[in-house]
Amino acid sequence: MTACFYFFGVMPVSTIIDTIRSRRSVRDFTGAPISKDDINTILDAGRWAPSGLNNQPWRYIVVQDCETIEEIATCTHYSNVVQGAPLLIVVFLNHDAKYNYMKDVQAIGASIQNMLLVCCELELGAVWLGEILNRKEKVNSILDAPDSLELMAVLAIGCPVEKERISTRKGVDDVTFNEKFGTGWVGRDEEI
Ligand SMILES: Cc1cc2nc3c(=O)[nH]c(=O)nc-3n(C[C@H](O)[C@H](O)[C@H](O)COP(=O)(O)O)c2cc1C
Repeated sequence: MTACFYFFGVMPVSTIIDTIRSRRSVRDFTGAPISKDDINTILDAGRWAPSGLNNQPWRYIVVQDCETIEEIATCTHYSNVVQGAPLLIVVFLNHDAKYNYMKDVQAIGASIQNMLLVCCELELGAVWLGEILNRKEKVNSILDAPDSLELMAVLAIGCPVEKERISTRKGVDDVTFNEKFGTGWVGRDEEI
């Protein structure tokens, strides 16, 4: 992992925000394998996400077998992305650990984002694939996953092909109100 500086166990905000801002979805991979240490670091970040009542509703299936990756690739329009990735982390909601559907899905989103950010810190590329949910039953069948596991996403992960990746976001002012709906947020002097 890239160097992090801790002060009394707290990572400075600048490091976190730098990773958040520099993370880009990566869809082209060199094909180089991912180390077991890195896979464990990614999974560790996923499991440390917050969840309602700490119910930890996520389950992950790590897929590295080429034939299985090929099969999963048939379930999405992003087949080339899946085929090019040496590692898939398939993320499920475990209905046996269910607390509240909305909150469980939110917790899984937090788990996924944790994993994406750690991939970025490890200088790995990753993309969150959601379109594949259209074929979620097929994915479960390929992976022998029971009905109690509901597919939430597939993360395609690998060493990134070096290229510029640009993304944009709406301004803070465009998505934020001040105190009440309708009053523009003018809390910042400079554009971020
Ligand atoms: C819920 C969700 C579903 C997504 N599904 C896909 C997908 O199926 N295929 C894909 O290529 N990217 C997918 N993405 C990635 C987005 O396209 C990407 O995050 C967005 O364009 C912003 O780009 P950035 O991640 O590089 O900042 C998904 C992202 C999220 C959060």
